[in-house]
Amino acid sequence: MKGILLAGGRGTRLYPLTMGVSKQLLPVYDKPMVYYPLSMLMLAGISEVLIISTPEDLPQFRRLLGSGEAWGMKFSYIEQAQPRGLADAFILGRDFVEDQPSSLILGDNIFYGTGLWDYLKTASRLTEGAQVFAYPVRNPQDYGVIEFDEGGRALSLEEKPKHPKSRFAVPGLYFYDSKVTEIAANVKPSPRGEIEITDINRVYLELGQLQVQQLGRGIAWLDAGTHENLLQAANFVQAVEERQGLMIGCPEEVAYRMGFISREQLITLANHLRQSSYGNYLLSVVEDL
Ligand code: G1P
Repeated sequence: MKGILLAGGRGTRLYPLTMGVSKQLLPVYDKPMVYYPLSMLMLAGISEVLIISTPEDLPQFRRLLGSGEAWGMKFSYIEQAQPRGLADAFILGRDFVEDQPSSLILGDNIFYGTGLWDYLKTASRLTEGAQVFAYPVRNPQDYGVIEFDEGGRALSLEEKPKHPKSRFAVPGLYFYDSKVTEIAANVKPSPRGEIEITDINRVYLELGQLQVQQLGRGIAWLDAGTHENLLQAANFVQAVEERQGLMIGCPEEVAYRMGFISREQLITLANHLRQSSYGNYLLSVVEDL
């Protein structure tokens, strides 16, 4: 399965923080925001990732992430000249995806919690249809919203509805079969002028091919779109990491645990960073403390 990481958002709600640097490269406690969604794709076993960002920001991602080789990954990069909407990821990414299933994750979505890995493993085996997640939030009107019938089956999907039919938002992590590029090519712009991922998901729903996994209390899905949320996300990561001594969203560790790199490769990465607590953490992973 191939992965697409979309990091094109302008982060206007975070001005002036994002006037000089891409939103997805801002720190969330001890690492850049983009490490968190990238680690999720890696946990799903995905090692080939297309990174999409604006012409100004893409060079910053290249500088940070490079070819991916050091992490046992392969990164490709493509510019999105205009923020046309999330579905554009599959128009720009058509040649990259080829005829394979793929996963899209948004560069500002942070997930953490029990059972997540099992959900990712299941979703990454998808060959037909689509799989999305549903997560209860207090402000569903800010997201794609999914409505369920009494039996828990998905009934409808709406993008940022004024009057949400449920509390369930659809997080920015999606898994699709190879039809997605064709479906994306036929999506028409919404009233806000974007080609919406929700419209792609609705096509799968109408085909009877949309699987929805509800995420429960044990899982945190964090948004880092405003100053308050960014700080809350950082505080959350710090609280968990400090208590457990385990990192959230550490791609080097995930690469090692998923078998993308060897112990020796992890030691080399750790040595480059050994002046920071991050590097020391990587050494502790190698020593299996
Ligand atoms: C986008 C999607 C929305 C989804 C959300 C998740 O919203 O359009 O359906 O629920 O990401 O973060 P946007 O980032 O465009 O506000």
